[in-house]
Amino acid sequence: MNDTPVFRQSLEDTAAAIADGLAVDGFHVCRDFLSPAVLADLRTRLRLWWEEGELRRAAIGRGEKRKIDDDIRGDYVRWIDTDSNGVFAEFFAAHYEPIRLALNRELQLGLWDYEGHVTVYPPGRFYARHIDRFTDAAHRKVSCILYLNEDWLPAEGGELRLYLPDVDGYEQSQDVLPEGGTLVTFLSDRFPHEVLPATRERFSLTGWFCTRR
Ligand code: OGA
Ligand code: MN
Repeated sequence: MNDTPVFRQSLEDTAAAIADGLAVDGFHVCRDFLSPAVLADLRTRLRLWWEEGELRRAAIGRGEKRKIDDDIRGDYVRWIDTDSNGVFAEFFAAHYEPIRLALNRELQLGLWDYEGHVTVYPPGRFYARHIDRFTDAAHRKVSCILYLNEDWLPAEGGELRLYLPDVDGYEQSQDVLPEGGTLVTFLSDRFPHEVLPATRERFSLTGWFCTRR
């Protein structure tokens, strides 16, 4: 993979749009965040890990309360070491670092680093409504979900459903299809959300820009 993003100019525009979205609405959805070539590299890497059994069932809770519960979340994950070599580390340096710096510059968020995992939901699996920032993960400030799927059809489901602040006492929500190259960012403590079941495997990279612990 090439270190230089193909869309360097628009990456700066995208970072500015994300900062605006977070400031005004608390969230932002960007389609075509990545060039098809970079997207294909990330998808290929994840597919190989998945086929080689390198992902683990995602657990919920921490410490003694840690458990696997299909009725809450049914995905498999592999945490990414941002300092190691490989397409994901290159991707972070080239595509997420500029966004982290722009958010600090524009919104003074004090984002220190990024932590994240690749994720696969087998068909039918879901993640029930939740908030990303639980009490012992208060360092997570901005959630970032990048979808790695190819040619996703609306009929295949698997939407991210974001619950927005009430308007006149009625809860609003917005659904985002997990089409490859779509990047969703939102303030981690603000938005309950869920992953709806899909009829095919659903690939993504999920993570958080964090403040210093
Ligand atoms: C999560 C999550 C959303 C998605 O992993 O915490 O909410 O669309 N993922 O994959
Ligand atoms: Mn979440």
